[in-house]
Amino acid sequence: MLKKIFLGFLALLAVFAIGVSLLIFWPASTPPPPRMQAYSSLDYKTVKSNAAALVEEMTLEEKAEQLHGDIGNTFQLVRWGLRFLTLPGRDIVNSGYNERLNIPPIAFTDGPRGVAFENGATAYPVAMARAATFNPELEREVGSAIGIEARRGGYNYIASPCINLLRHPGWGRAQESYGEDPFLTERMGVAHVNGIQKHGVMSCPKHFALNSLENRRFTVDVSIDERALHEVYLPHFKAVVDSGAASIMSAYNKVQGEYAGQSRYLLEGVLRDEWGWQGFVTSDWINGVYDAEAGIHAGMDIEMPWKKVYGEIPELVKAGKIKEARIDTLVRRVVAGKMFWASRTGVAGTDYAAKLSTPDHKKLAQKVAEEAMVLLKNEGNVLPIAPAAVKNILVVGPLATADNLGDAASSKVDPESIITILEGITQVYNNAKIVYIEEGDMEALKQAAIDADVVIAVVGYSSDDEGENIQMFGDRDPSQPTWGTGGDRTDLRLKRADVARLQALSGVNLKTVAVVIGGSAITMDEWIDGIPSVLMAWYPGEQGGLALSRILAGQAIPGGRLPVSIPRETNRLPNFDPFADTVTYGYYHGYTWLNKIEQEPRFPFGFGLDYSQPSIDTAYVANETLKWSDTLVIRVLIKGNGSRRGWAVPQAYVSWPKEAGRPDGVLQAFAKTSIMPGVSQQVDLEIPMIRLRNYAGEGNWEETYGAYNVYVGLDEADARSRPISFTLEEIVLTAEDFLSPTRNPR
Ligand code: BGC
Repeated sequence: MLKKIFLGFLALLAVFAIGVSLLIFWPASTPPPPRMQAYSSLDYKTVKSNAAALVEEMTLEEKAEQLHGDIGNTFQLVRWGLRFLTLPGRDIVNSGYNERLNIPPIAFTDGPRGVAFENGATAYPVAMARAATFNPELEREVGSAIGIEARRGGYNYIASPCINLLRHPGWGRAQESYGEDPFLTERMGVAHVNGIQKHGVMSCPKHFALNSLENRRFTVDVSIDERALHEVYLPHFKAVVDSGAASIMSAYNKVQGEYAGQSRYLLEGVLRDEWGWQGFVTSDWINGVYDAEAGIHAGMDIEMPWKKVYGEIPELVKAGKIKEARIDTLVRRVVAGKMFWASRTGVAGTDYAAKLSTPDHKKLAQKVAEEAMVLLKNEGNVLPIAPAAVKNILVVGPLATADNLGDAASSKVDPESIITILEGITQVYNNAKIVYIEEGDMEALKQAAIDADVVIAVVGYSSDDEGENIQMFGDRDPSQPTWGTGGDRTDLRLKRADVARLQALSGVNLKTVAVVIGGSAITMDEWIDGIPSVLMAWYPGEQGGLALSRILAGQAIPGGRLPVSIPRETNRLPNFDPFADTVTYGYYHGYTWLNKIEQEPRFPFGFGLDYSQPSIDTAYVANETLKWSDTLVIRVLIKGNGSRRGWAVPQAYVSWPKEAGRPDGVLQAFAKTSIMPGVSQQVDLEIPMIRLRNYAGEGNWEETYGAYNVYVGLDEADARSRPISFTLEEIVLTAEDFLSPTRNPR
């Protein structure tokens, strides 16, 4: 009897296993073609009238199909999810292919650090790392390379960039963002969008709006006043929309009590009425819209990735609950958008049929990683360490051998190969003996550090510790040191095991470098004094190990500057509760907050040491007169004081007259320039005056006249020591020249 039960159980298990395997391995159906040969470079006006004509010919059911993703039901969704969790890459998700009327589908892929749906795509450093390059031109190249790979893979729509502002560095998805500053986010976001779209691939900046808390992202209700919304949290969205972004993805969270995906204020009011944008909105996935009537009314054009509630559209129209004319409005903009982008031929000379990840793209991933790494400390000029001078190296920590590209959810990319840190060091220091200690006894670690010429300790996080929260069953406790499955961080310190290793290494070997891996600010006060050199490497992408090792060896220059302030302790920042049901976003966060509460950060926004040791000699306003329609030009003279080549990133922070009520010093311009030893370099920082208007309510902006300051420096704190004042009178501005002292080396 027992035997029979056992055999029965085995049979059931076998059937279950075969069922799940079939579900996973049965090939996905062939997707429809994402671009239509029949179109050729149509202008938007023509496309709009073509779309209107097509809508006239559609049945109600055909119209409804334009407004949701093609995953048909829960079963297909589960199968999609299982395949995503077990196989590299992901199945394409389409929306709205109409063969009869020759309407192209949306062929969707994530994401912010490479083409997430296609196995073998190039994995770039995360967006936060790319923000640290302070180099929008480079970000345009990354966007372009991602656009090319998307087109090669058969996709015409990328859910990238993520331009939510980092209100608090504990946000789990901080790494997908461009950091805490609206202007840096804007410059990088626009460059990324333009890079993607020049290949005829639609870019979808996300998540509109105020999505910067992870664990309660589906439910949290964010309150904000109109001024903070328009001056702090939305300007970068306006900039990408103005630069021609094809689409926008809504956010999961509520804004002022209403789901962002059903907020008429945000989707029709701000995006269309205020900003005049003509693109279409897609929902964030699965939980982005809850009520079809509310979504349609709000201007949510497409529910992704399936018709969870938009499947009801035909019935709701027939029942008179939604007017068909309203459906037509949404369908027209969706069809027009798809037709317009399907007609773009891309960039002449680009081989869209080549292998997905080319050597050029891999090289770009390496270059970006090098320009992104931030040298935070370099006591006694430990770095660079020439390979010829080293006989043995101690490499410490489990992350040195990990394939650690960052978040493991929607932004995850499965590249062909990854160069780990240990592999990179082995490749670059190919004549040295390398000892690797993953973890273990602290006394043994100390002894090995004494015996080594150089110690490289790799510390930080992985997707277990931060990222999109894909934990499906219950909440994880973010205060625990080993967390698992992404989510927010309430504690910005390193994990205890990392701190123990760094403390054991403290003061032992003068050539010790801590390499910090992570997607955002990590506090360092408890160990940094004992470690001579610290390099913030972020999640540096598939070529990260090589990039890092080249920097250690002096074959590449660490070109990064912090896109996020690093406080001394977590509690110096605004309150951050990942499990909050409601949260109020104020006017201040990041460096504006730290300034307001008069707290010095451990490392300020925009900071990064440089081998060229740049300093600002002079900085002055170059305009003689200035009108609101003009551009303020701040002329900066920079000198390299070191013996090596490097980078300088001069930054200008504007401070308004008191009556304007704005924060004291907000980034409005920066530039990145390469510096040669002993050579002076002139750089102009330009600020269109129109940017300095203040939000006056109901979509209006107004000018403030009076005494302004522009702080100019090589990071946010440095800039405060160099104010240039000018007075803005009714029409004309007069500038006082200002001669600065040489920058104090930190
Ligand atoms: C994320 C989006 C992503 C989408 C599709 C959502 O859970 O919030 O950023 O684009 O999934 O993967």
